[in-house]
Amino acid sequence: MAKRKLKRFADVETFDNVAKPTMEEAMSDSFALKGKWNSDYFKNENPIVLELACGKGEYTIGLAKNYPNKNFIGIDIKGARLWAGAKYATENKMSNVGFIRTRIDFITCLFGPQEVSEIWITFADPQPQKNRARKRLTGNRFLDRYRIIMKSGGKVNLKSDSDFLYEFTKEVVAEGNLKVEVDSANIYEELVPGLGDAPLAKDLLIRTYYEQRWLNEGKKIKFISFVP
Ligand SMILES: C[S@@+](CC[C@H](N)C(=O)[O-])C[C@H]1O[C@@H](n2cnc3c(N)ncnc32)[C@H](O)[C@@H]1O
Repeated sequence: MAKRKLKRFADVETFDNVAKPTMEEAMSDSFALKGKWNSDYFKNENPIVLELACGKGEYTIGLAKNYPNKNFIGIDIKGARLWAGAKYATENKMSNVGFIRTRIDFITCLFGPQEVSEIWITFADPQPQKNRARKRLTGNRFLDRYRIIMKSGGKVNLKSDSDFLYEFTKEVVAEGNLKVEVDSANIYEELVPGLGDAPLAKDLLIRTYYEQRWLNEGKKIKFISFVP
C-alpha cells in the first residue's frame, strides 16, 4: 500500500471526529453512540443529516457550512478517503461534523429509530450487475433500513452521474408510490438556474471529487429527492 495511504489510515485512528465501530459493534446493538448522537456526540438537539458513500466528505463539510444549526455525519468504508473531510473538520473546529468508518449496510446498528432527519447519497457506485443489485444504496433493501432510522417525512437525496442508478431509483420510487420532492436528469441546465437563491441551489453546487471527474467527461448530473 502507498505510504501516503498508510499514513492516512494511521491518522484516521487518531481523529476524534471519526467513529470506528468494531465489526461486533456494527452488527449488534452495542455501539455506544446508537441513539445518542445528539446527547453524547454533538451535545445539542439539532437535526442529524447523513451523507452515505461520502468519500472525502465534500457534502458533509459543505452542508455543515450551509446549515450551522444541523449536524452532519459522513459514512464510508474507506478510511483513507474519509481522512480529507475529517482533517478539514478538525482543523476548522467544525463541531457539527462527524464521520463513521464502516459499511452502510450496518446503519440500523449505528443509529436509533428516527434518529436521522435526512440522507444524502452522493455519487454512489451504481452496481449495475444483477448479482450486485442488493448493494444499490437506493434499492428497497437499503430503503427499509433508512425507514427505521429516519424521522417520518425525512428525505433521501440522490445526486449521481449514473443514468442506470437514477433510472433504477425512479423505478423503485414509482413502484413504492413514494413522494417525489425534486427530480431532474440534468441539474445544471434544468434545475439549478431556476432555483434562484433557494437553499437547494447552494446545496447542489457543492462538488465532490467524483462529480468533478464526471463533469470533466461531459456527463450530466442527476438529482432526485424523495420520501422513502
Ligand atoms: C464513487 S465513490 C463516491 C465518493 C464521494 N461521494 C464522491 O462523490 O466523491 C463511492 C464511495 O462509496 C463507498 N462505498 C460503497 N459501498 C459502500 C458501503 N456499502 N458502505 C460504505 N461505503 C461504501 C466507497 O468506499 C466509495 O468511497
